[in-house]
Amino acid sequence: MEYATNIDDKETIVDPTIYRNALGSFASGVTVLTTKASESPVGTTVSAFSALSLVPPLVLVSLALKSETLAHIKRAGFFSVNILSAGQGSIARRFATSNGSTKFDGVEYSLGKNGAPLFAGISASLECDLDDCFRGGDHDILIGFVRAARVSPELAPLVYYRGGFVGLGEADK
Ligand SMILES: Cc1cc2nc3c(=O)[nH]c(=O)nc-3n(C[C@H](O)[C@H](O)[C@H](O)COP(=O)(O)O)c2cc1C
Repeated sequence: MEYATNIDDKETIVDPTIYRNALGSFASGVTVLTTKASESPVGTTVSAFSALSLVPPLVLVSLALKSETLAHIKRAGFFSVNILSAGQGSIARRFATSNGSTKFDGVEYSLGKNGAPLFAGISASLECDLDDCFRGGDHDILIGFVRAARVSPELAPLVYYRGGFVGLGEADK
């Protein structure tokens, strides 16, 4: 068992490595957030995605302040959430870098109603207007108002767990 903190400390300092390992123990789906910058598409891999509200339809995502995609989303005022399916780990890895100009090379996508890319073969997508934005530490919390949603029920989701991509059920082995 790894302990991250001494709870008797007045100022609790969490060990950064154990903190990251603890966060990584929370299995999540994987999304790629996309938007449009001038004429070219941009996007980044995001696991900090959550449903927020049914009526009105709101979702939230958390993006690092240093993310180039964050700046583009704030400028554009809209974004799309691509919920990746099993077997799309290579797309997740490709979009987890900041070399914006080449990320979309060879990736099959179409443009949604808002002009942001929607990848082929994803489990589901949500096209959102940027509704609000709050600072949270070194991240911004974006609230998206969902304008359109699509689902491919036959496709299983991609799952991220402890630094790797797994299929549903494999984590129990
Ligand atoms: C599986 C996975 C999940 C990630 N989730 C997030 C996230 O929720 N928020 C975030 O800001 N970065 C996340 N990242 C890191 C970004 O994808 C990465 O910092 C990327 O380089 C940012 O690109 P950009 O500067 O072009 O926006 C994640 C990376 C991976 C591999």
